Amino acid sequence: MSSIVLKDVYKEYILGKTKVEALRGVSLEVSKSEIISIIGPSGSGKTTLLNLIGCIDVPTKGEVIIDGENTSTMDDDKLTLIRRHKIGFIFQTFNLIPVLTAYENVEMPLISLGVPKEERHRRVIEMLDKVGLLEFKDHKPDELSGGQRQRVAIARALVINPSIVLADEPTANLDGETGKKIMEIIKTLNEEISTTVIVATHDPRVLQYVERKIYLEDGRIVREE
Ligand SMILES: Nc1ncnc2c1ncn2[C@@H]1O[C@H](COP(=O)(O)OP(=O)(O)O)[C@@H](O)[C@H]1O
Ligand SMILES: [Mg+2]
Repeated sequence: MSSIVLKDVYKEYILGKTKVEALRGVSLEVSKSEIISIIGPSGSGKTTLLNLIGCIDVPTKGEVIIDGENTSTMDDDKLTLIRRHKIGFIFQTFNLIPVLTAYENVEMPLISLGVPKEERHRRVIEMLDKVGLLEFKDHKPDELSGGQRQRVAIARALVINPSIVLADEPTANLDGETGKKIMEIIKTLNEEISTTVIVATHDPRVLQYVERKIYLEDGRIVREE
């Protein structure tokens, strides 16, 4: 179980001479292995928020505290380490490596962690089995459907046993039925592995799978359900 605390978080981007305030005073606590959704229109700050929780970036002002550690006090090496060990990312566009097979894509994060070959093999096979893709393990991404690619991406995110899984619009490039199946897999894994899952979306179909809904508008939380 992992704890995420955001205290009055601001994130500002400088684009030439203009400043974009992507987040404007966001406070949030997630302390259970729950599945929550960040809902908001395009440009409301969802990806920015996930990037801060995922240690891809640090806030301009305020604090992001992951398992008791303030990310603003960490150097790049430390941020990378936290990312590799604790965070699993699932992206809208899957972000698989095209020249690698499904098996090799899922194996990558374990190589980064220095996990020995036999253990890697065991864990990759187990994860591919969990997402129902064992028989496609030698396929490259362009030999898989969109839904299958997203399942590979889910396996890749979860193979490290992350304490936090961040999914950025995971159903946006999938048809309705496939999107539902993807959310069902994510929800089942959340229950089985008891990992915290945060899904950013503006897809209302996602909402039936989450326990908590946080609505974001213009970089601020406007309500929670
Ligand atoms: N790297 C960046 N540089 C400049 N502006 C950015 C950058 N990333 C995001 N933004 C701006 O911050 C705001 C929030 O973006 P984002 O977090 O991507 O929202 P969402 O994911 O909800 O669509 C938008 O106005 C966007 O244009
Ligand atoms: Mg986004």
